[in-house]
Amino acid sequence: MGALQLPHRMVMAPMTRSRASQPGDVPSALNACYYAQRAGAALIITEGTQISAQGKGYARTPGLHTREQLEGWAKVTRAVHRRGGRIFAQLWHVGRVSHRLLQPGGRLPVAPSAVAPRGVQVFVVDPQDGAQRFVPCETPRPLRREEVPGIVADFRTAARRALQAGFDGVELHGANGYLIDQFLRSTTNLRRDEYGGDARRRVRFLHDVAQAVVDEIGPQRVGVRLSPHVTLMDVADPEIVPTILLAAERLDALGVAYLHMAEADWDDAPTVPIAFRQELRQRFRGTVIVAGRYTPCRAEAILHEGHADLVAFGRAFLANPDLPERVAAGRPLNEPDPGTFFGGGRKGYVDYPRHDA
Ligand SMILES: Cc1cc2nc3c(=O)[nH]c(=O)nc-3n(C[C@H](O)[C@H](O)[C@H](O)COP(=O)(O)O)c2cc1C
Repeated sequence: MGALQLPHRMVMAPMTRSRASQPGDVPSALNACYYAQRAGAALIITEGTQISAQGKGYARTPGLHTREQLEGWAKVTRAVHRRGGRIFAQLWHVGRVSHRLLQPGGRLPVAPSAVAPRGVQVFVVDPQDGAQRFVPCETPRPLRREEVPGIVADFRTAARRALQAGFDGVELHGANGYLIDQFLRSTTNLRRDEYGGDARRRVRFLHDVAQAVVDEIGPQRVGVRLSPHVTLMDVADPEIVPTILLAAERLDALGVAYLHMAEADWDDAPTVPIAFRQELRQRFRGTVIVAGRYTPCRAEAILHEGHADLVAFGRAFLANPDLPERVAAGRPLNEPDPGTFFGGGRKGYVDYPRHDA
């Protein structure tokens, strides 16, 4: 895949775990231990990692915009490489899925347009009383046209920092209702400038970001995650499937290494039509990764059908540090504990046993 030789086809899907050390949202030795335990993945894609302070949407998620964060990530990549693994950083700007309590200067989160995500909450630590709680997202402030190049530049800088920190490449988080996805969708992007309107214009932000990152680190080190069939985060859009197919064509022209299709965010798992899978293959010639409630058996089937080249596993990797070995050995899998997915320390993070422990 791209510049990498992968030993098999089981990828670790990106998963936010909200355990960056504080203050400063800095990856720590604990995070390095977690990823190193999972170095047997064909490729690890990290948790969403904010490209800027403005790109943050949940408490205790790591960033890649300060020196301390870069040095923290360098510990993680060293630990993974020492175990023979490969690791990409997932670059993230949450757009409207945030809250002023998480934003620099207490300002409103930004988005393509002033459309609030209905029924969406984010996890914050209240600076007044230190309490952790979920709060509803607010109506975001629409980005001014002249602010857009600055965000594109933040993605580019984060990609450069990722390579400096020892990552093998980056994945642009264009899925699940965050900033890039908010630009793609006709329901969240009501702009009248060259970044909004028809599909071609809605794809432009993603294209500008991908172009900038490809120019910075080369196409073979860049992947893009998209989620045409996910509707969580209040992003249902009747125009999204053709928009994503157009995006796939544009990303093919840039030569990015892979497209990573998120087919389920949690249990929101619609059936993906075969026609879509075939169309995607026609429009994009690079590697296709799929993710979302795959079992080893379903994964085997989709690989045989030729609709994907790699399959990413989320919760199964979270609970089974040695997932590929376990599957190869036909051993039963540990069950994930949702109570320890976000926040906390070692428990539910680095204490899932290997099959040979
Ligand atoms: C705890 C948790 C955190 C997640 N965080 C992210 C994230 O940061 N970025 C992302 O693109 N997807 C994220 N996802 C979605 C996963 O990458 C994956 O698509 C989803 O879990 C479905 O795959 P699975 O059924 O194999 O778990 C997260 C999922 C879980 C369970």
